[in-house]
Amino acid sequence: MQNDIQEVLYDAQQIGAKVKELGETLSKDFGGRNPLVICVLKGAFIFMADLVKEINVPLEIDFMAVSSYGQSTKSSGVVKIIKDLDVSVEGRDVLIVEDIIDSGLTLSYLIDVLERRNAKSVTVVTLFDKPARRTVELEADYKGFTLPDEFVVGYGLDYAEKYRNLPYIGILKPEVYEK
Ligand code: XMP
Ligand code: MG
Repeated sequence: MQNDIQEVLYDAQQIGAKVKELGETLSKDFGGRNPLVICVLKGAFIFMADLVKEINVPLEIDFMAVSSYGQSTKSSGVVKIIKDLDVSVEGRDVLIVEDIIDSGLTLSYLIDVLERRNAKSVTVVTLFDKPARRTVELEADYKGFTLPDEFVVGYGLDYAEKYRNLPYIGILKPEVYEK
């Protein structure tokens, strides 16, 4: 598995320190509130688990799974909900936890859905950001690391469902795609 990685961008220790820092900031900013923290599956599952341990306010969690339609319709920003939330977001301060923002289409769709369901507020935290690939104007409220325009895996992120369990984030060797 490690042999398929071209370069480690951030190791487990660096990610851990960043997650702690984000948690401290969120603890302050969400003080006195009771946010509903939403994990966008599957990629964000490790970040979510590590982050909530660092958020020192009463909170609830829920999960959502989405997928983009094929390439041809991707530009329309149409995203399919594979697994919806179990609870209502009405009147709730919602914190969306994302692994990575790429084009921004997934996130802009999610924000729209949650606002239409009358969330009181919608805040976004992403661990990784690839601003070079944005097709919609959108910024996360909180972000960990800005990445180059390379396909990355590890710490929850996959290629063909593999590599999610790597404790670091790294660039996948191009030859892996070409296999
Ligand atoms: P958009 O383009 O909607 O996409 O912002 C966000 C989703 O695309 C996936 N994604 C990646 N997954 N390595 C991955 O494993 C990457 O480099 C990468 N770039 C985007 C990811 O699922 C994210 O939620
Ligand atoms: Mg994904």
